[in-house]
Amino acid sequence: MDSREIEGDLTEVLVTEQQIRDKLAELARRIEADYEGERLLLVGVLKGAVMVMADLARELRSHVTMDWMAVSSYGAGTQSSGVVKILKDLDTDLSGRHVLIVEDIIDSGLTLSWLLGNLASRGAASIEICALLRKPDAAKVEIDVKYLGFDIPNQFVVGYGLDYAETYRNLRDVAILAPHVYS
Ligand code: XMP
Ligand code: MG
Repeated sequence: MDSREIEGDLTEVLVTEQQIRDKLAELARRIEADYEGERLLLVGVLKGAVMVMADLARELRSHVTMDWMAVSSYGAGTQSSGVVKILKDLDTDLSGRHVLIVEDIIDSGLTLSWLLGNLASRGAASIEICALLRKPDAAKVEIDVKYLGFDIPNQFVVGYGLDYAETYRNLRDVAILAPHVYS
């Protein structure tokens, strides 16, 4: 789905498909160099990270394996609480593995902070994070992101995997959702 086709639903396109492609290529070159000689495990966080995972993995010129987790934040409202429940766990034994968590967006950072702690207890050789987007003004905990795509303003965004009520994930760009859509 193209931004122009749903212009009325969007306030502003923040990151275009081309900018995402260029950035993932740049990150992939760094990842290849940093993990040279290692067989990296990419851990995608469902469902938002599906597009980033698909494009990043294909951009990499080295062997990688992919696995997935689904987590949900407990708590009232739309704000992340930091208390996380595993809906779908990994199939892979992490002991001795080099793990790269692949995420769509870091908002408060609470989900990733919990996930880092959880994965760290499974004996991985290393754990790093690759996130396409980050909202620096929304941070509640500091997350050390080794591979970051773009810092964006503290606004609700959709597209490239990110949804509003499960819609807009197949938008090619990342855009700010117009308030009239959710109010
Ligand atoms: P925290 O706050 O724990 O949240 O860093 C991360 C998760 O919350 C979702 N999220 C968003 N989803 N547009 C979305 O479609 C947004 O602007 C947005 N901000 C946070 C997302 O699932 C992310 O993994
Ligand atoms: Mg997510």
